[in-house]
Amino acid sequence: MTNLKGKHIILGISGGIAAYKSVVLLRLLVKAGAEVQVVITPHGKEFITPVTLSSLSGKPVISEFFTANTGEWHSHVDLGLWADAMVIAPATASTLAKMATGVADNMLITTYLSAKAPVFVAPAMDLDMMAHPTTSRNLATLKADGVHVIEPEVGELASHLVGRGRMEEPEKIAQALDAFFAAEQTLKGKKVLLTAGPTYERLDPVRFIGNFSSGKMGYALAEEAGRRGADVTLVAGPTALADPIGVKTIHVESARQMLEACLKDFSRTDIAIMAAAVADYAPKQCLDHKIKREHDGIENIELVKNPDIAASLGQLKTAGQMLVGFALETDNAEANAREKLLRKNLDMIVLNTLADAGAGFGTDTNKVTVISQDEKIAFGLKDKHAVAADILDCICKNL
Ligand code: C5P
Repeated sequence: MTNLKGKHIILGISGGIAAYKSVVLLRLLVKAGAEVQVVITPHGKEFITPVTLSSLSGKPVISEFFTANTGEWHSHVDLGLWADAMVIAPATASTLAKMATGVADNMLITTYLSAKAPVFVAPAMDLDMMAHPTTSRNLATLKADGVHVIEPEVGELASHLVGRGRMEEPEKIAQALDAFFAAEQTLKGKKVLLTAGPTYERLDPVRFIGNFSSGKMGYALAEEAGRRGADVTLVAGPTALADPIGVKTIHVESARQMLEACLKDFSRTDIAIMAAAVADYAPKQCLDHKIKREHDGIENIELVKNPDIAASLGQLKTAGQMLVGFALETDNAEANAREKLLRKNLDMIVLNTLADAGAGFGTDTNKVTVISQDEKIAFGLKDKHAVAADILDCICKNL
């Protein structure tokens, strides 16, 4: 773990029995060369003493807004700016809920709300609390807010029940932070062009042909590429997602508009990733009035083929440019993906199949296989942000 050296890390500890493991985590972070400031909730102190934590971190532990006798104010704002990362381990159900809703009634949550740096949480709780819809909802909110969730393990819990909710081991948490810093700036100076989401092909002013793509995979890739220092342009079809922070986002509707936007940028692009689910066909004409149910004699809609954006860029591609496509397949998955790799002149194709539960459209997870001319790497089912990191690792390796 060489990437933690000199990093400023806030270690947030909330009140769960797994707080005893935070001592090991603190020790590992300090040993790896990080400067660690512990912020503990009032309940956290019932599980582990500030004396142990301050001895190991070499810094007074912060818990209250003020030091009782001197009235000295602890600035969560300064702390939020100081940090290169914040990791909350254990993150109890209550702390996750407060984070998700902004209930800033302790120093840990005010620090979280002020943190400019990436935030990691390692949830720890009993299996029923973990499985409760409230917890799932709060975790989904936090993920959507960009918080990295280090998923809990299945194992024996403090209640002696066995289930999901055991905090990930300190070594794994430290490794996740190390990997995060290792990935930073690997795309500095690179221009990345991304397509994401569906395209809508208009039939009339109120109807369109489209598909169920949510855009989540492409948006996760845009965020991750931005985090790695790339200059990212995201050409997005209609989605319900907020524009990723720090990413130039161009909103388009149809495949033709998407192609046009890509062509404007492509000559300056180092890496183009085509994650959009582009409609293959568009209505031959878009009527300027709403098609009436009773009339217009429209039983059949005449369609015309849309341009293939990936293949068009594949034709224009020059040495030094990298083009990555996606393939969502239902059958003969690998053979079809390889055929697309060649036909569209791609350097790499990311295959997902609808046969895999949790993969494909609309979900927060995906399971992909990354295929290039001479390599094939199959990844497990993961959160789309983790999948984005895997895909960009493969791209960086092949740059
Ligand atoms: O041929 P198929 O649609 O399966 O290919 C999928 C890949 O090609 C994806 O990367 C998708 O973004 C891209 N594509 C495109 N323009 C199209 C159709 C697909 O860029 N018209």
